[in-house]
Amino acid sequence: MTERKPMNLQRLLDMHARREKIAMLTCYDASFAHVLDEAGVDVMLIGDSLGNVLHGAESTVAVSMDSMLYHTRSVARGNTHAWIVGDLPFDSYHASKEEAWRNAAQLFKLGAHMVKLEGGGWVNETVHFLTERGIPVCGHLGFTPQTVTALGGFKVQGRSEAGAALLKRHAKELVEAGAQMLVLEMVPSALAKEITESLSVPVIGIGAGVGCSGQVLVLHDMLGISHGRHPRFVRNFMQGSASIQEAVARYVQEVKAGTFPVDAVHGF
Ligand code: KIV
Repeated sequence: MTERKPMNLQRLLDMHARREKIAMLTCYDASFAHVLDEAGVDVMLIGDSLGNVLHGAESTVAVSMDSMLYHTRSVARGNTHAWIVGDLPFDSYHASKEEAWRNAAQLFKLGAHMVKLEGGGWVNETVHFLTERGIPVCGHLGFTPQTVTALGGFKVQGRSEAGAALLKRHAKELVEAGAQMLVLEMVPSALAKEITESLSVPVIGIGAGVGCSGQVLVLHDMLGISHGRHPRFVRNFMQGSASIQEAVARYVQEVKAGTFPVDAVHGF
């Protein structure tokens, strides 16, 4: 049996190039990190969705840098193989690229391999600043939870011709600035597929269809234990599974086989 090697950036880029699907899930603590790692998850995201699923908040806006650091360290301690992405929370990268660097560096020192930030256009300079100095960056476009108020609620993005053109431009610019992975959230499947095929870096979808390089879901949503509204793109993998380990393993297997998501059921 070949030994499983820790994930790295080059392998993720190669997987995208070979159209080999990438399975990503959010994770917030060491015990779950161990379960996800054993189940073969490629990428763990310490998402600021922890504000919703751990803290019970309405949005991710109040999540502090301290919370992100605490949970990033916990996940890193429980993980052996997965690539770890840490979210930069609201108000941690907005004021200046220097402030973004200081916050990203803290996540990096505690075990994140890459940081994720939301938005297009205005973040390009920051992405360039971080990547030039050695911190890999994942962009996040489409529905961006930190700006839910400005977006007027949980809405699919890129439906209009102008909206689609803007998303395509922002994705291209992010990669030109140095981003080496993108998350696309709540975007029409056909548009997400077009963006994925146009880029040299993996595009991980959430509510963006099966044509992306991989998928991500919020862990508590796919285990059916999150409270409140359940978006259309979520599937409860605990249904029909005997354990959390089995549910996560089924998620990984279905993402890799391209049987999750089903665009007609989970897509826009
Ligand atoms: O915070 C988070 O969990 C995320 C995912 C929704 C991609 O950003």
